[in-house]
Amino acid sequence: MKKNLLIIGASGHGKVVADIALRMNKWESIAFLDDDEAIELSMGIEVIGTSADINKYIHEYEIFVGIGDNAIREKVYEALETVGASIPVLIHPSVVIGEQVLMGSGTVVMAGAVINCCTTIGKGCIVNTGSTIDHDNSIKDFVHISPGAHLAGTVSVGKGSWLGIGSVVSNNVIIPSGCTIGAGSVVIRNITEPGVYVGVPVRSV
Ligand SMILES: CC(C)(COP(=O)(O)OP(=O)(O)OC[C@H]1O[C@@H](n2cnc3c(N)ncnc32)[C@H](O)[C@@H]1OP(=O)(O)O)[C@@H](O)C(=O)NCCC(=O)NCCS
Repeated sequence: MKKNLLIIGASGHGKVVADIALRMNKWESIAFLDDDEAIELSMGIEVIGTSADINKYIHEYEIFVGIGDNAIREKVYEALETVGASIPVLIHPSVVIGEQVLMGSGTVVMAGAVINCCTTIGKGCIVNTGSTIDHDNSIKDFVHISPGAHLAGTVSVGKGSWLGIGSVVSNNVIIPSGCTIGAGSVVIRNITEPGVYVGVPVRSV
């Protein structure tokens, strides 16, 4: 195992990622990269370069993308994968994970989340604070499940979709790739087209 962790993105989401990494107590040192060269320190952690410096650190550090935007996170993750970076999974110690849960690299699971048995979560996903993902879900790559969102059993969420804070998805529902589900919205039937959906139950906007 490598001794150090480098987090790309030193703003809000990156700070929560760093906080989880500190609590995991797995790395000897933690540092940030951020393209805003004005940031030297974030949450007391040093910013040691920009994303252009990845190659400089690739052998000494495991590298994690701490960027909330799904499309940007995907782009940076793919660049890391191309250069052969070691990309960890970050799981807050308070998380509850059931049997036979699979998770891809570059995924972070934040404080108080619950992931129930037989669920698969792709790479580069965010399972945010206090969200719950029940049994037999299929969450594809670069999805963001926002704080307090709740997914019932056998839900499928396509690549890069974003479920807003406090949203709810009923059992057996399919949400395809390219969807945004608004804050507090409720999905009770399959969605068939990419787009932005809000309300209870959701309507396309
Ligand atoms: C869904 C969302 C992305 C839409 O943002 P937007 O494209 O800027 O849309 P607008 O604010 O222009 O709203 C468009 C319409 O949808 C409605 N709307 C937007 N979000 C809504 C929501 N969550 N629930 C119900 N209606 C909503 C607006 O009232 C507006 O309705 P109108 O046309 O009748 O006036 C945004 O409102 C949202 O919910 N974001 C989630 C934020 C979040 O979860 N953050 C957590 C980060 S960790």
